[in-house]
Amino acid sequence: MAALILFGGGGDLAMRMLLPSLYFLDHDGLLPQGLKIIGAARSQETVEDYIAKVRQAVQPRAEADDAWDEASWARLAARLDYLAVDATDAESLRALKARSGEGDTVSFLAVSPSLYGRIVTAMKAAGLAEKNDRIVLEKPVGRDLESFLEIDDAVAHAFDERQVFRIDHYLGKETVQNLIALRFGNAIFEPLWNNLTIDHVQITVGETVGVGDRWPYYDEYGALRDMVQNHMLQLLCLVAMEPPSDLDPDSVRNEKVKVLRSLRPVTAEDAERVTVRGQYVEGAVEGRTVDSYETERGQPSDTETFVAIRADIDNWRWAGVPFFMRTGKRLPEKRTEIVIQFKPVPHSIFGHGERGAIYDNRLVIELQPDEDISLSVMNKKPGLEQRMQLQPIQMSLSWGQDGKDAAPPRRRIAYERLLLDALHGDSTLFVRRDEAEQAWKWIDEVADAWACRECRPLDYDAGTWGPEAADLLLSRTGRKWNAR
Ligand code: BG6
Repeated sequence: MAALILFGGGGDLAMRMLLPSLYFLDHDGLLPQGLKIIGAARSQETVEDYIAKVRQAVQPRAEADDAWDEASWARLAARLDYLAVDATDAESLRALKARSGEGDTVSFLAVSPSLYGRIVTAMKAAGLAEKNDRIVLEKPVGRDLESFLEIDDAVAHAFDERQVFRIDHYLGKETVQNLIALRFGNAIFEPLWNNLTIDHVQITVGETVGVGDRWPYYDEYGALRDMVQNHMLQLLCLVAMEPPSDLDPDSVRNEKVKVLRSLRPVTAEDAERVTVRGQYVEGAVEGRTVDSYETERGQPSDTETFVAIRADIDNWRWAGVPFFMRTGKRLPEKRTEIVIQFKPVPHSIFGHGERGAIYDNRLVIELQPDEDISLSVMNKKPGLEQRMQLQPIQMSLSWGQDGKDAAPPRRRIAYERLLLDALHGDSTLFVRRDEAEQAWKWIDEVADAWACRECRPLDYDAGTWGPEAADLLLSRTGRKWNAR
């Protein structure tokens, strides 16, 4: 690969995530020799100014991780180039092509998806979509199935599917990949991984941040399209998929797409029973008073900033096992976790003591704030009580937890893994067209059900775990969200 082109190279994603990731990869000696990195954006600036801007973005991030050194920076800076372009204009992109040299290119589109169609058409005309070139697309690709297909068809005119890398940065998170290792690298979990042993699954992605000045984007998308369509459904797929026969891209993605196809559609009749929409009003998060969404937005809005959904997967493995998902802004903590709740023992010889006494085998896969996988198992409480008492203990199954290992490795930015894979042409951790299509289909059904029922979002105070209805979603079936 000769050049990595960052369209939107001066924008927020490039500066906050992509360029720091590239610094870390270069620092660790993982970038291909001779790879050029070309920032391409509208603004007229010199290469020197661009490099100075990149340094400003990268240095504090690297210092925070104790990974800054001038030699690594000099290596990265030597790769950097910048060209002001109109990315929708073929003539302008010909100059970019010339700048990228002879070899193949990977182009990362970190720009508004509304431009994707016109950009790929111009890329094709400019010779940036030859058979060994690749394109990386940042989400959101479309706002519903129809707009997704429209953009994706334009992409398909310029690139073959094997050249297209649709990013979902959650798939680059270390613990997400660890979930694959846990499920398919150990024989002990798979026999339990079904409706005989598992009661239900919870997926929580909680954020403390509000929407703030991202509202022009967010107000059009909402939590359903911003988080559930991609990150949450991807996590659900990895938990629910059948064991793939291989770790190659198509074997894994074939299994994920089968899960998406098995999701039970949410109908208008079901909407109130299986979904909850919420929007934050003023409240306190981490001790600080914060505004309502509508105050940030500056006018009334029907956009949801919180969603909880019960998803059912209609296949043999998961029949009768609900998957509860919830995500929202302005929740009490930044927490992302998957909880596999096992069924209680069929007959308890220990009585029915506290909640934990008979019902507490759960596997918690925590992605944020810490990365950890822990299994809670019942244990005898030490002591001489006449009647044996039980207590849950947490067994950590994560790296470095057995006390023998040194400090855990640096926590990588999810984009590091994904940029590296795109450079190597490995699309296992990227989303295939049919996956995105199926995910949109299911999301459209939810959105249509909401529209049909005129479901307005319910208010929730910032700093709480969403509207009360989200608790009811579980408590109605005798279950509870995992609390720490
Ligand atoms: C992005 C969403 O895809 O993911 C944001 O657009 C969200 O709204 C972010 O804040 C969350 O990512 P992470 O890695 O911080 O959990």
